[in-house]
Amino acid sequence: MSRRRAFEATGIEVFERFVGRPGSDYIASGYALGTIAEIVERRQPRAVLEVGAGIGTITTAVLEASDRAGGAVQHHVAVEDVPFCLEQLAANLGARRGEVEVVDRARDLPSDAGPFDLVIVDGGYTDDLLPELRSTFGPDAVAAEVDAWTALVAPGATVLFENERGAQRARFEAQVARPFAYERRRPFDGTPGVHLYHLEPSPALVARARARSAVDAAWHPHALRTIRRVNHRLGRPPLGVRPAVARGGDTS
Ligand SMILES: C[S@@+](CC[C@H](N)C(=O)[O-])C[C@H]1O[C@@H](n2cnc3c(N)ncnc32)[C@H](O)[C@@H]1O
Repeated sequence: MSRRRAFEATGIEVFERFVGRPGSDYIASGYALGTIAEIVERRQPRAVLEVGAGIGTITTAVLEASDRAGGAVQHHVAVEDVPFCLEQLAANLGARRGEVEVVDRARDLPSDAGPFDLVIVDGGYTDDLLPELRSTFGPDAVAAEVDAWTALVAPGATVLFENERGAQRARFEAQVARPFAYERRRPFDGTPGVHLYHLEPSPALVARARARSAVDAAWHPHALRTIRRVNHRLGRPPLGVRPAVARGGDTS
C-alpha cells in the first residue's frame, strides 16, 4: 500500500469510529481526516488551530497523528461554541480533553495565542449552524472569524479547508497578503475533499502544488464520469451520497 493510501485508510478508520456517535451527521470525511493525519505526521506542526471542532473527529485525528509523530503537536486549540457539540467533544476526547484548549470564537483568541503551523477550517460559516441559529451569524461574523485566525497563521504554515468553503476561502485569499501555494486534493468517490494553502512555500512546494492541482483539474472530472458510468452499469450505488459527509458551508 502506498503511503498516501495508508493515510487515507487511517482517516477512514477514524471516520468509521465516529460515524455512529451522537451528532455525527456533519463530521469530516475519511479522506479529509487522512489528509490531516498525513500533514501532522509529515510536517509535524507544533501548534494547531481547528475552526469548528464539532464532536471532535478532526481533533481525534490530530491527537492520534501527533502521537504517531512522537508528540509533535504541543499546542492544540479548537474553536467551537455549540453546547451540544461541546458536550460530545468532551465525551469523545475523554481523558485527552485537557490536551485541547477550546474557545467559543477565533475572535476570542488573544493575539499571542498563535502563531499556528496548521489551521484546519471545518466550521465558522453561517450554514454550519442549525437553521434557527443562522440569523445570529451572518457574512460580517464569518469574515471577522476568518480575519481573526488569518492573523495567527505562522510563517510556512498550512491552512486546510475541509469541503468547499468557497466564501471563507475567498475571504482568506483576499486578507492573507502573503505568498501561498494553493493545492486541490479530492478523492474519486464524488466527495469534495480539501483545499490546501501552503504559506511562504519553497519553490519545490510551489511546483508540487501546481502539478497536483493541474492533474486534479484535468483528470478528476473525467475519472468521476467514468466511475459513475461503470457504477451505473454494474448497478452499484451512486457516488457522493454517503450520508455522514459534512456539507460544510456553501458549495460555491
Ligand atoms: C462541519 S461541522 C464540524 C465537524 C467537526 N470538524 C468534526 O469532524 O467532528 C461544522 C459545525 O457545525 C456545527 N455542528 C456540527 N454538528 C452539529 C450537531 N450535531 N448539532 C449542532 N451543530 C452541529 C458545529 O458548530 C460545527 O463546528
